[in-house]
Amino acid sequence: MSQNTITSSVVSLEISGAIANITLNSAPVNALSKAVRLGIIEAMNAALDNASVKGITITSSLALFSAGADISEFGNADDLSPMLPEVLNVVENSTKPVFAIVNGNAFGGGLELALACHYRITHAKNRVGLPEVHLGILPGAGGTQRLPRLADVQTALDMIVTGAPTSVQKLDIVFDVIVEKPEHLFEQAAKFVATAIEEEFPVKPVSAITLNLDAKTAGLFEKYAQGVAAKTKGFFAPLQCVKAVKAAFELPFEDGLKRESALFMECMNTPQARAQQHFFFAERAASHVQGMDKNTKVRDIKKVAIIGAGTMGGGIAMNFANVGIPVVMLEMKQEALDKGLALIHKNYLNSAKKGKLSEQQVTDRMNLLSGTTDYADLGDVDLVIEAVFEKMSVKKEVFGALDRVCKPGAILASNTSTLDLNEIAQSTSRPQDVIGLHFFSPANVMKLLEIVRGAQTADDVIKTSLHLAKTINKVGVLVGVCFGFVGNRMIEPYGRESNRLMLEGASPEQVDRVLGKFGMPMGPFTMGDMAGLDIGYFVRESRREFIKHDPSYCIVADKLVEQGRVGLKCGKGAYLYEAGNRQPIPDPAVIDIAKQEAARLGIKQRDISDQEILERCLYPLINEGADILHENIASKSSDIDVIYVYGYGFPVFRGGPMQYADEIGLAEVKARLEYYRDTLGEYGKQWFSPSPMLNQLVADNKNFSSSK
Ligand code: CAA
Repeated sequence: MSQNTITSSVVSLEISGAIANITLNSAPVNALSKAVRLGIIEAMNAALDNASVKGITITSSLALFSAGADISEFGNADDLSPMLPEVLNVVENSTKPVFAIVNGNAFGGGLELALACHYRITHAKNRVGLPEVHLGILPGAGGTQRLPRLADVQTALDMIVTGAPTSVQKLDIVFDVIVEKPEHLFEQAAKFVATAIEEEFPVKPVSAITLNLDAKTAGLFEKYAQGVAAKTKGFFAPLQCVKAVKAAFELPFEDGLKRESALFMECMNTPQARAQQHFFFAERAASHVQGMDKNTKVRDIKKVAIIGAGTMGGGIAMNFANVGIPVVMLEMKQEALDKGLALIHKNYLNSAKKGKLSEQQVTDRMNLLSGTTDYADLGDVDLVIEAVFEKMSVKKEVFGALDRVCKPGAILASNTSTLDLNEIAQSTSRPQDVIGLHFFSPANVMKLLEIVRGAQTADDVIKTSLHLAKTINKVGVLVGVCFGFVGNRMIEPYGRESNRLMLEGASPEQVDRVLGKFGMPMGPFTMGDMAGLDIGYFVRESRREFIKHDPSYCIVADKLVEQGRVGLKCGKGAYLYEAGNRQPIPDPAVIDIAKQEAARLGIKQRDISDQEILERCLYPLINEGADILHENIASKSSDIDVIYVYGYGFPVFRGGPMQYADEIGLAEVKARLEYYRDTLGEYGKQWFSPSPMLNQLVADNKNFSSSK
């Protein structure tokens, strides 16, 4: 039976003369879900059955071609057949030539679909990629076998191992036609297909190309694998990717596919794959705010003001200039303003030196920045971000002034990292327009933006802020008001424990080594030295009331600061540093301080296992996260994971602290907290009681990700 049209909701077939046009239409991203896979097979079969059809095109009705396999199906136990490789076999084994018209991004299975076609047509502005490695897996629908048959081995390895999107212009060997202008793609593609049919171009399966593993290529694989192993510690998939590509050279196509499939399944069953897939959705879920009316409008942000031209203010300003939004910076004194603007200029020039920006881009960005010392000049801005000294009286003064000069509807944001946003909001007559935008240092680099919702912050101000985060290439996460919000509140027990462990007998280098091995970019002592130990000291000073019941609280860090050892900037902190070198050097004097303080406080020093260090640094941090959920400061555990990965370098292959806890099992986390509560004397009782949220989840046999 032949059909001239099929219009399922996600795949359509339209036969026009000798050409069957298959169009994917599954918003938002043409993920290759079961419905799409069935639709492609149905359309292919109809086209093959129709005697008048001489050629088949596959394209998309959306702006992108396809984002690949439907990731939400991973781990789903339902019957998911036909699987993608099966669908691609139907395409590749077609007796009529199949033409992929790759009108937009083709990622993962989307690119694999194009590779299974016999001819590929795209436009010069397009980018394609195999990003599966970011999901802890490898391309499992023939990508590792077909791409190296078309592209050179180095390109195939780079694309598959890094997952980076690649300009099609670098892949001219993969595409038969690259049309210069996107708007001419369909017209040019139609011409190519018509000619191909008229001239009876053959079916040209990529699988028919043979590859051989000569000595040079074998050497390349060996070297590549060594490099990957060194650069991707903790991740499982990258080396699997190398093995899969190598199989394309070692095995006939069919066997290579089997090897790819086996390696894919090995990846799929790892904690890394679960973590990275969790993180993919976590990052996207961060912008969905429960209870927010979908029709809430976003306010226009065309001009921004920053109060304070220090390092933080300057970094924040750069984010806006980078995306073409004009910024006016306000300082009290012209000299401070000039210094701030000069620092930004220097930062841009440094980027230019590294080849990241052209001279013109530096000029354009600087032209978007202006300065003033007069609040009256802020009357036309749509958003103000205050980044002044972290003191309530100073903030209140600033917000009072902003309230007087800013136009109605302007958003008034504070970059405070600790202060009560609601109190700040009360210094204005418009608390509904006040929000926290907590950037992380360096503000022009770090991807995280904690968006702090005050008691009265309006929904459209929240939605605008989340939208704005995307505009300036940050990931915005909505949090509530409490001391330190989510990130800094959770880092507190981490810092406390690392310090206490030193009193109990661990060295800074042992603690740093354990956390480094876990996957943190640096351990807590190296991090503290880099940030400056005086910063933590000032925070503790402001909170003595809350910590005075624990005389051991960060006592070694306090002593270091009191001796002028404030970290890297002065050449000594928890470690020593040689001038101009960031490499920490262990210092026996620090161990002596710990010994003396331990003796003074009656703490017996002992050998501490790496496992204890890991648990004592991470489980209290997770426990604090549970409290944060309990108090609704974060609305879902995945938001905490996003904050930790983007703000604190928590390894993405662990998925964030809450996903890590789920992976270990919450009953185990609770049991270990209780163990330390019961074995560390008074100190254990003070700090190791499991959160009510953790107790409840364990009692209900739930985990964090199923909790909210
Ligand atoms: N499967 C399921 N859902 C997907 C998806 C996919 N492959 N790609 C995106 N989505 C969903 C997102 O979760 C999001 O959903 P919500 O709106 O509910 O949050 C929605 O589509 C839009 O996605 P983005 O917000 O990311 O949209 P964007 O325009 O910023 O980016 C994109 C578009 C570049 C395609 C980006 O979504 C992306 O990188 N997607 C994943 C690409 C990928 O990793 N593909 C490989 C899949 S695995 C595979 O193909 C295995 C194999 O070998 C068979």
